[in-house]
Amino acid sequence: MIRPETIEKVLETARIEEVIGDFLTLKKRGSNFIGNCPFHNEKTPSFSVSASKGIFKCFGCGKSGNVFGFVMEHEHLTYPDAVKFVAAKYKIEIEEQIPTEEESAAIDARESLFAVTSFATKWFEDQLWNTDEGRAIGLSYFNDREFRPETIKKFNLGFSPDRRDAFSKHAINNGYKLEFLESSGLSVVREDRYFDRFKGRVIFPIHNVSGRIVGFGARILTSDKTIAKYLNSPESEIYHKSRILYGLYQSRKAIGDADNCLLVEGYTDVISLHQAGIQNVVASSGTSLTTEQIRLIKRFTLNITILYDGDPAGIKASFRGIDMILSEGMNVRILLFPDNDDPDSFARKHHPDEVVTFIKQNSRDFINFKTTLLLEDAKGDPIKRAGLIREILTSIALVPDTIIRTEYIRECSVLMDFDEAVLFRELSKLLKQKLAKIDQREEEQPEAIDSLTIPEKSKIDNQPIVDRLAEHEKNIIRILILYGNLLVQSDYEIDANNNPIRIPAAKEIINDLTSEDYVFKVSLYQNIYTLIKNALEEGNLILSESHFVNHQDPEINSLAAEFVGNFYEISPLWESEKGIYTSREYDDPNKLVHPSLLKLRLRKFQEGRDDHLKQLEEEKDNVNQEIILNQLSKYTQAIDELKQMLGLSDQ
Ligand code: CTP
Ligand code: MN
Repeated sequence: MIRPETIEKVLETARIEEVIGDFLTLKKRGSNFIGNCPFHNEKTPSFSVSASKGIFKCFGCGKSGNVFGFVMEHEHLTYPDAVKFVAAKYKIEIEEQIPTEEESAAIDARESLFAVTSFATKWFEDQLWNTDEGRAIGLSYFNDREFRPETIKKFNLGFSPDRRDAFSKHAINNGYKLEFLESSGLSVVREDRYFDRFKGRVIFPIHNVSGRIVGFGARILTSDKTIAKYLNSPESEIYHKSRILYGLYQSRKAIGDADNCLLVEGYTDVISLHQAGIQNVVASSGTSLTTEQIRLIKRFTLNITILYDGDPAGIKASFRGIDMILSEGMNVRILLFPDNDDPDSFARKHHPDEVVTFIKQNSRDFINFKTTLLLEDAKGDPIKRAGLIREILTSIALVPDTIIRTEYIRECSVLMDFDEAVLFRELSKLLKQKLAKIDQREEEQPEAIDSLTIPEKSKIDNQPIVDRLAEHEKNIIRILILYGNLLVQSDYEIDANNNPIRIPAAKEIINDLTSEDYVFKVSLYQNIYTLIKNALEEGNLILSESHFVNHQDPEINSLAAEFVGNFYEISPLWESEKGIYTSREYDDPNKLVHPSLLKLRLRKFQEGRDDHLKQLEEEKDNVNQEIILNQLSKYTQAIDELKQMLGLSDQ
């Protein structure tokens, strides 16, 4: 654990514009700096850095935080590593303190696993290069696959000799615990016996994005069809298959430079393409593509090109991939390899230049891909053709951006030789159906639904349906963080002469929320609230905004930066009767605190009422109906009272 004093010192010394300036070009604009956001693809700068507040915020993608937050996000580091990174820039020595037992137990388990995987990787590499068996069997296999030595080294490929427990024994002799050998999947333990899971196989270590080994793939060396060709490490504390992309560590820089990520099926595809000089490539090896993996890619580029086998399984997988990628608001192109080739075999048969040209010339956008693939089948059959159009429109409907959707419709119209206006009408029907589904789910949020218009101004995807209670909760947290110190007239505390007194807003909010044991539905808000409440109860301390801006939890510091930087959009839901929320809202904290609390409560009661209304509809039993009705009338009464207090009652 790094000492809090050290963290303070780093924060005081570091200048956020200098640190960020190492990664992108910043230009001075008034008291702030602006630049192109490194976290999403943009043409006009919407990334802003406030030197005086020590925070950054992108108005395009919404990312925000302090200097550590930036480094964590950009360099994919943990909080302590981000602190060390910034400290190193300013040559500040890091002083660590002994972690608590709980902390060290959690760190120990993960670190022990990393220690084991790192030890194993080195040993497998050593076996491959420096033993007779490794050279004769493992290395010659890689040679047959035409992997060059520098490629083998770049991917840390290795070899596990064909002996039952050679690795496990060696590891135990070196002080590694069987417990971690087992949970890493390297050893299989049966009662008091253990053996090497990957014995007699070549080894493909799997790196996470910061380059640490989380697991392994292992391939047999024969063409024996009765044995599994590949064995993979099981899930573990450090290996979550859905969140790992094979090759991302080696490829991430090239992906950013090319502003495109090639997505292939397996280890060998990634490696062969690298060897052919194509380095912007990853594989979702071991699982079918997940949304988490797509979001990992999204940190580096918005463009994905799927390179799969042209067999039916590959086609099916690519259809699924297309829709997932489109839903993330990313662009997707597809190339299926012909004649039983995969990227690996194709790259081996052709000159690297040919491979590059082939990918460039044959990858198509998803409409073109789906159309040509399915049109053949639907030729001259109007019903099939209609089905095909609907199929393509369904994918288009997933695209969040209206303008891009429109472009796709145009392209679809040309390719299918189909009237644009009809396609737009069909698309709008699909969007409405989609909306109706959301409507069903969110039926008790009429205001949010009303504000949507379809299709031209459709916001259903860009702008998530507003959770109104969560919005009010956010407002309370905002007031706590920004104005917790300001004094307000208390509704709860009085002085010795029974006169009302003025107390800090944070205290008053806590008085109010504890009076009904309020629990925030958004856990982030509940966590912040608890921090504030504990500090107040234990040390009579009101946590300041800088405490939160520099908090080590990235969710907390990013939210605080959003508030402090005045970067949030004021929700219309927070506004008081005459829209008093202005930049001078703190002029009269009384007008801010109590109305906001009342509104939170009002919303809560409204949800309670709606909940009971639903129960009433479903309840068949007369007596129970009576009970629900009774409760309902209490809710309506409370709602009426609150509305009156807020000056919102219907005239
Ligand atoms: N793969 C896997 N598990 C399997 C089969 C394949 O994880 N049981 C993955 C591997 O990542 C592999 C990729 O799919 O790199 C391609 O599969 P395949 O071509 O069958 O593997 P190769 O090792 O290339 O075998 P071959 O030499 O027979 O082409
Ligand atoms: Mn293959």
